[in-house]
Amino acid sequence: MGSKERYHWQTQNVKVSGVDDMVLLSKINEEAITDNLKKRYMDDYIFTYIGPVLISVNPFKQLPYFTDREVELYQGAAQYENPPHIYALADNMYRNMMIDTENQCVIISGESGAGKTVAAKYIMSYISKVSGGGPKVQQVKDIILQSNPLLEAFGNAKTVRNNNSSRFGKYFEIQFSRGGEPDGGKISNFLLEKSRVVSQNQGERNFHIYYQVGHGFLGKLEKITAVFIFSGNMRISLQFRQVTQKQGRNTAVNFLQNAMSVVGLAEEEKTTVLQIVAGILHLGNIAFREEGNYALVASEDFLAFPSYLLGISQDGLKNKLTSRIMDSKWGGKSESISVTLNTEQACFSRDALSKALYSRLFDYLVDCINKAMQKDHEEFNIGVLDIYGFEIFQKNGFEQFCINFVNEKLQQIFIQLTLKAEQEEYVQEGIKWTPIEYFNNKVVCDLIESKVNPPGIMSILDDVCATMHAKGEGADQTLIQKLQMQIGSHEHFNSWNKGFVIHHYAGKVSYDVNGFCERNRDVLFTDIIELMQGSEYPFIKDLFPENLEAEKRGRPTTAGSKIKKQANNLVQTLMKCTPHYIRCIKPNETKRPRDWEENRVRHQVEYLGLRENIRVRRAGYAFRRVFSKFLQRYAILTKETWPQWRGDEKQGVLHLLRSVNMDQDQYQLGKSKIFIKAPESLFLLEEMRERKYNGFARVIQKAWRKHVAVRKYVRMRKEASDILLNKKERRRNSLNRNFVGDYIGTDNHPEIRQFVGRRERIEFAAVVVKYDRRFKTVKRDLILTNKFLYLIGREKVKQGPEKGQIQEVLKRQIELDKVQSISLSTFQDDFFIIHEEQYDSVLQCIFKTEFLSLLYKRYEERTRRKLAIKFNNMLEFKVKKSGWGPFGAAGSRQIQFQTGQGDEAVVKPSSKVLLVSIGPGLPKNSRPTRQDKRKSQYFGKQPVNSERQGTPRGGAQVKNGARRRSQASSRASLLLRQNSMDQPTLPRQGQRRSRNQQQPQADMEFMNVPDQGVAGMQRRRSKECKPVPGSGRPKPAPRPKPRSPQCRALYAYDAQDTDEISFNANDIIDIINEDPSGWWIGRLRGKEGMFPVKKVSRL
Ligand SMILES: Nc1ncnc2c1ncn2[C@@H]1O[C@H](COP(=O)(O)OP(=O)(O)O)[C@@H](O)[C@H]1O
Ligand SMILES: [Mg+2]
Repeated sequence: MGSKERYHWQTQNVKVSGVDDMVLLSKINEEAITDNLKKRYMDDYIFTYIGPVLISVNPFKQLPYFTDREVELYQGAAQYENPPHIYALADNMYRNMMIDTENQCVIISGESGAGKTVAAKYIMSYISKVSGGGPKVQQVKDIILQSNPLLEAFGNAKTVRNNNSSRFGKYFEIQFSRGGEPDGGKISNFLLEKSRVVSQNQGERNFHIYYQVGHGFLGKLEKITAVFIFSGNMRISLQFRQVTQKQGRNTAVNFLQNAMSVVGLAEEEKTTVLQIVAGILHLGNIAFREEGNYALVASEDFLAFPSYLLGISQDGLKNKLTSRIMDSKWGGKSESISVTLNTEQACFSRDALSKALYSRLFDYLVDCINKAMQKDHEEFNIGVLDIYGFEIFQKNGFEQFCINFVNEKLQQIFIQLTLKAEQEEYVQEGIKWTPIEYFNNKVVCDLIESKVNPPGIMSILDDVCATMHAKGEGADQTLIQKLQMQIGSHEHFNSWNKGFVIHHYAGKVSYDVNGFCERNRDVLFTDIIELMQGSEYPFIKDLFPENLEAEKRGRPTTAGSKIKKQANNLVQTLMKCTPHYIRCIKPNETKRPRDWEENRVRHQVEYLGLRENIRVRRAGYAFRRVFSKFLQRYAILTKETWPQWRGDEKQGVLHLLRSVNMDQDQYQLGKSKIFIKAPESLFLLEEMRERKYNGFARVIQKAWRKHVAVRKYVRMRKEASDILLNKKERRRNSLNRNFVGDYIGTDNHPEIRQFVGRRERIEFAAVVVKYDRRFKTVKRDLILTNKFLYLIGREKVKQGPEKGQIQEVLKRQIELDKVQSISLSTFQDDFFIIHEEQYDSVLQCIFKTEFLSLLYKRYEERTRRKLAIKFNNMLEFKVKKSGWGPFGAAGSRQIQFQTGQGDEAVVKPSSKVLLVSIGPGLPKNSRPTRQDKRKSQYFGKQPVNSERQGTPRGGAQVKNGARRRSQASSRASLLLRQNSMDQPTLPRQGQRRSRNQQQPQADMEFMNVPDQGVAGMQRRRSKECKPVPGSGRPKPAPRPKPRSPQCRALYAYDAQDTDEISFNANDIIDIINEDPSGWWIGRLRGKEGMFPVKKVSRL
């Protein structure tokens, strides 16, 4: 029964490419993983799962599957229903949050340029789209979406790895009301790369905002910035001209202005913000020259603009950049003295001022955004962590060290939550389990952050800083020595002449120790603070709120310890949420689409630990939950558990599992938790639960659908009758009959289905009577698809192991375009002739009107021509040449129709003419009448009586086909029964079908009726009718049972499509899924794929 969904899914949406959940890979090694990712990537599938973890490979091009259609498709759908997508993950978070009332977070990791930020944006926009809310909520949504470009302008820059690289980390919590509306939010920012305020590496740029300000389109700043650009004496090489050409200068700035308004900045504040940026740019113009070992400002002209912009005096600025007040202790007293700086120190002061201004401005913006989204009390939230990824540059300084450390911590969480925790939990709960080895990077985290035994790099760094001389000379060298002394023998550590090397989880990085101590100390000299506190602009004063008197005591916090603290706080926060993971992979460094650098990907696959991830996942249990939560979640399933189970929790869980007949090998009960093995088993529970909850909503939905369907059906019937209008007398029942389409129920008859192409839609199928050249009758299954007409007969097998058995045989297959015409009599009989070039087929079928109207439509679709339908009471048909003998020759026969008695045709064959007589039917101009009554019928509860009508009846058939009829009718009833199976059902559920479960059965049966006759297919198309769990996957998971059944190939088969397997006669194939469609899924020589059942015999 799962097959139908698969058909639908495949034919409607995508071709299958690799496996969409790598848990299903037949071989688990890096090569197979990389191969699978590549195969999918090349087919434009960037998303792949490992269980709940989403792997995303940067496509470097816009892919078409991020539209509203996908938002709709993934909303409320289970993971297995659709191809992997970031929307599925986002939807899952959102729904989990609502259902479990638990906070969620998603950790997006990956190298710089791997697509983290883009992923974060997709998540936010998805959540904003699927969640409701009034104007207040809309405002929060606007802020959430607009804060992105604003923070990107100030926090992103072009690097060699990414043109829009985030130079800060961000944890964005979207807060929700109990109703699931995003009504607040909070951003925590980390690690702004301050060095970029004053410098840049080769081939890189500074923060985007510099260039946007540089456009000079900022109102009152226009002139100033113009001068600035003109001055050409900048320390920071800005590429204004390039920017101007590349982007519309107005758009960037307008956009920015708008974003600032959305987050609540007043006009004046907006100007001041940009003014400060301009001031920072101008600070960069100040150069120094050396005179007698002292620094002097090279050209005083350059002091004017920054002083003006920052609201400070020129002299003050000059003094503070070239001298410093030092506190010196002398005996018991301390004394302040003014020290003149050398050029190096002066440059350092200038840059320190720029960095302080910029980073405080950045924090201010984050604060503004936070204030604008603030909520008085927090309910639930979804956190999105987008932090800048592991990075290696030519020269790696203190900032890279910090970034890589945070990434190391994130990897650690990942390991803890997925690998380690998973395994430890099994042990704790007493679940049977074989451990799996993996690299735990805790050792690297410790190397960096450990306090003692041995102290980590950060501790050693802090010690060096604490004791370093005010000017800091030689401190970095001291650091190298100390590191070497204290941790030189650590496995993951080496030193080199300029610094040290860390063996990170993601690879070796050499750090240049130069500037480490200075950056770690991160002290802003009192002088500079004082200078800025003297600004005439309150806004700028407020950026420097330090109380200089109070801050003199105690060991100051260092940048390293701050980051350590932030990282650990972050870990704490994340650990409190239900985590989700997106692991971004960067396929190349060229930023070009379709460029696959095998080694690069392989490396990422390795260090991300994907292989271990798959292995743990595969061996383990997909789902676990503490008994009480499980009971609470599925309470609705039985009356004993609703509203509350009284008694032992474990027994309650068992009771629930038994009530749904879950296989015993599918779960284990630990000490406090239940573990469920295959996700499919869980889905069963979920579906069941959902159906119970949604029952009411569905009744309403169904009524609407029925209403729509009835209208469609009425139209279809009218169309059908139009074909025969004024041409042919009608049978009494044919006008007002329901159209079922598939009267055979081919979905449950693989022996018939096997002849039909896997991607063909069956539009019509019914048992018909065929007349041969001697007017002898024989039964055939007539099948109409969107491409072909088929006639299927039955024959006794003459040879082989199945000798004597009756087998289906394809008797005729006519391409629709090859049909020349159809001819019928003008009487009410059921005869029709299909004319084709070679020979014609004379058939008799009570559903001829339905068949004809479908054929007419499909024919027109395919050929863009109208199908010729002729009416005559003397019909002629060609017979094919078949062998020797008096009847073997090609030639033609005739059918003569005449008025007789009764509603059944009476046939009288002679050698070349068949005489058919039948009584008068309804007049030729009859039209369907029962339109109004229909309503009550369909809105009523009783099942549609297609079973009765689906049973062939009528003259020749009745006489010749008693056995056949009962067969057909049992098929029809089988079809009815099977309809109920289209609903998700629990194993062995048949025994305990309750009354309200039967209702959808009738409803679903109704759903067959109006839609072009493909009974099963149309039901599947209905969204409301959720597919059978697990069946949305292109390839179902291997069964949990250890030994899979096998079959032997009777004949060789060449795969016709990428998702099929080829084999030779006598090959033994492992059967993964025996699908009633006639296409099974099997595994041969490591490859999984589909194959036609008729080519094999089960062992
Ligand atoms: N899903 C995607 N579709 C299209 N392009 C993408 C996608 N993900 C990333 N990119 C491209 O790659 C660039 C880098 O992605 P980004 O998310 O900024 O990387 P990261 O944040 O990991 O450093 C983007 O600017 C964009 O051009
Ligand atoms: Mg980024």
